[in-house]
Amino acid sequence: MSFKMFTGCLVAAVLAAGSAMAQSANPIVIKFSHVVAPDTPKGKAAEMFKRLAESRTKNAVKIEVYPNSQLYKDKEEMEALSLGAVQMLAPSLAKFGPLGVKEFEVFDLPFIFPNKETLRSVTEGPIGIGMLKKLEPKGIIGLAYWDNGFKIMSANKPLRKLEDFRGVKMRIQQSKVLDAEMRALGALPQVMAFSEVYQALQTGVVDGTENPPSNMYTQKMHEVQKFATLSNHGYLGYAVIVNKKFWDGLPADIRATLEGAMNEATKYANSIAQEENDNALAAMKASGKTEFVTLTADEQAAWRAALLPVQKEMEARVGKEAIEAVNKEAAKYAKK
Ligand code: LMR
Repeated sequence: MSFKMFTGCLVAAVLAAGSAMAQSANPIVIKFSHVVAPDTPKGKAAEMFKRLAESRTKNAVKIEVYPNSQLYKDKEEMEALSLGAVQMLAPSLAKFGPLGVKEFEVFDLPFIFPNKETLRSVTEGPIGIGMLKKLEPKGIIGLAYWDNGFKIMSANKPLRKLEDFRGVKMRIQQSKVLDAEMRALGALPQVMAFSEVYQALQTGVVDGTENPPSNMYTQKMHEVQKFATLSNHGYLGYAVIVNKKFWDGLPADIRATLEGAMNEATKYANSIAQEENDNALAAMKASGKTEFVTLTADEQAAWRAALLPVQKEMEARVGKEAIEAVNKEAAKYAKK
């Protein structure tokens, strides 16, 4: 444990033991760490949660939001949460495998969500609620799912046909499903913290990556990626999570108020995500720094043919039942 984490734990423990409705003189502090820019769906939702939580508790609670990996970067942040050095995170659903909750990687499966309706029915229904429950034995409570969007594929060469991926080093999040995805395309996957991606693309440590447009734009990746393919081949979203010991230790009235604030912030997050991504894509197109590639029907079919078998390949890891349950939801919302 680093000194920074130790002091964080100490302060958190002392404050959490504070009196129930301590007014602003001695507020309960919730450190909310995340790895994206403030002007992203997750960044804006975190600020919305801060405003709602502080106003509704009359400043008995203070939310300290630390964006852009300022406090902790990928991997570090999960450890910090477990140690109580931070109290709240909203990691990508692709980052729960190392915690031992591999089922979350079902969200990473290429083309498993044909549309947002399917996604919502999963996250707001028994499948998503059941997944959050699996976090509790790890000392974590899952409060909500926040949306981002479908991913595009970027590189310094056009990625159209499968042979275009051969030997291309592609940065991925720490997810075995995403590793399988890139290998199925013929690329070389490389796990890397989100905070390191821009420099890795700039220096050629990796050749390309995947993310929704809002992340690509706000990390200025369009400045170091000559091409991006509008593939929408996979989804990226978040689970908002808290340290269970801290959350259960809150005064009941405070916890209930914070749950209400989180519900409102979640509605807000999910209502802005698509527009944030549309605006980011428009801004990147206007910059002229990246050429955007649209796949032909045949090229799309070739990507699907290569990527759909990843579902079978990953059954043992994410669970056949979870995959079947999501596909069943997808069938309900398939465009008639
Ligand atoms: C990534 O690492 O690419 C994303 O998880 C970043 C984020 O949190 O959106």
